[in-house]
Amino acid sequence: MNKLTLIQPDDWHLHVRNGDILKTVIAHSAKQFSRAIIMPNLNPAVITVENAIDYHKEILLALPANSNFTPLMTLYLTTELSQDEVKKAAESDLIHAIKLYPAGATTNSDSGVSDLKAIYPILETMEQVDLPLLIHGEVTHQDCDIFDREKVFVESSLNDIVKNFPNLRIVVEHVTTKEAVDFVLAASNKVAASITPQHLLFNRNAILAGGIRPHNYCLPIIKREYHRQALIKAASSGNPKFFLGTDSAPHLTGAKENSCGCAGCYSAYAAIELYAEVFEQVNALDKLEGFASIFGADFYKLPRNTKSITLHKQSWTVPESYKVNDKTITPLKAGENLNWKLQCC
Ligand code: DOR
Ligand code: ZN
Repeated sequence: MNKLTLIQPDDWHLHVRNGDILKTVIAHSAKQFSRAIIMPNLNPAVITVENAIDYHKEILLALPANSNFTPLMTLYLTTELSQDEVKKAAESDLIHAIKLYPAGATTNSDSGVSDLKAIYPILETMEQVDLPLLIHGEVTHQDCDIFDREKVFVESSLNDIVKNFPNLRIVVEHVTTKEAVDFVLAASNKVAASITPQHLLFNRNAILAGGIRPHNYCLPIIKREYHRQALIKAASSGNPKFFLGTDSAPHLTGAKENSCGCAGCYSAYAAIELYAEVFEQVNALDKLEGFASIFGADFYKLPRNTKSITLHKQSWTVPESYKVNDKTITPLKAGENLNWKLQCC
C-alpha cells in the first residue's frame, strides 16, 4: 500500500503549553488533527472554567490563519474543585473532561490529588452530569518502583474508582502495561484508554540501552517489550475502547538534556505518521482509522469528522529540532527516517 486515506483524526491527549512553545507546536497538531483534548497542567494549572476560557482564547490566537482546529478544553482536578464548577464545566461547550493527576506524578502535578477518597464527592457530581474523568494512572509513593507505578495504581486505586462510579466515563490515559490494558478490557464500556506513539514504538531499551536518551523519557515511563506487545495488540485490535492520544509533551531541548531532565516526548510534528509506522509493522493499517479517527469521538459523544487526510508511503528525515525563538524542541526520532508522510494542502 502506497497511499492511505483516513477520516481526519483527533488527538485525545495533547499538551500544547502556552507562550512561545504554544506558538511553535500548535501548527503541527493543527495540520493533521481536527480536534485535540488539551491538557490543563500549565503553571499555574487550568483549574476553573474561566481559566479554560482564557487558555482556549490563547490557543485560538496561536493557530495559523484559516485553521479549523478545535481545542477541547479540560480542567485540572484539585480537592478545591467545587460541585458548582463541575456543573458549570459540564454546561460549557468548551470543556470536555476533567483530568486527575495524583500529586507529584509528573510535570506540574504538585497541585494534584494526594487522597483519592477526598475527591469522591467531585466524581459523584461528574458522574451525574456525565463529564468524563481522565486519569494519569500512576501511584506516586517514592518506595514504589517507577516501572510498577501504573500496575499498582490499577490494582489499588483505579479498581476502586470504577467500582464506586459505574456510570462515570473514564479514560485511563496513556496506558503502558498489559495490566492496564487487561483492566480496560474487563471493564464496562464506560472505561476506555488512550495510547501514545512512543509506547507503541519503543520498549525501555530505547531510554537506557547504549546511553541515556532523554528524548525518549516520559511518564508513565516506557516499559519492557512484553507490555509494548500488549499495547500494539490493543491499539490494532479494532476494539473501540482504545484510541489515539499522543501525550505529545514539548519541553525545551535544554530541559530534557539535563542532569534532571523533564518527562515528555514531542511527537505532534508527525503524530499520525508515527502511528502509521507501528500499524504497518503489524499489518494493521486497516485498523488505523478506527483508532485514530472514530473511537475517541464516539467515546466523547462528539460527531465524527467529515474531512479526510492522506498519507503517502515516502521516506523522509525527521528534523534534529524545531525552533522556539533562540531555543529548540527536539522531536521524538530526531534525525531518523519515517516511512509515511502526510500530504499537505
Ligand atoms: O511525560 C509526560 N509529560 N507525562 C505526563 O504525564 C506529563 C507530560 C508533561 O506535561 O510534560
Ligand atoms: Zn499527558
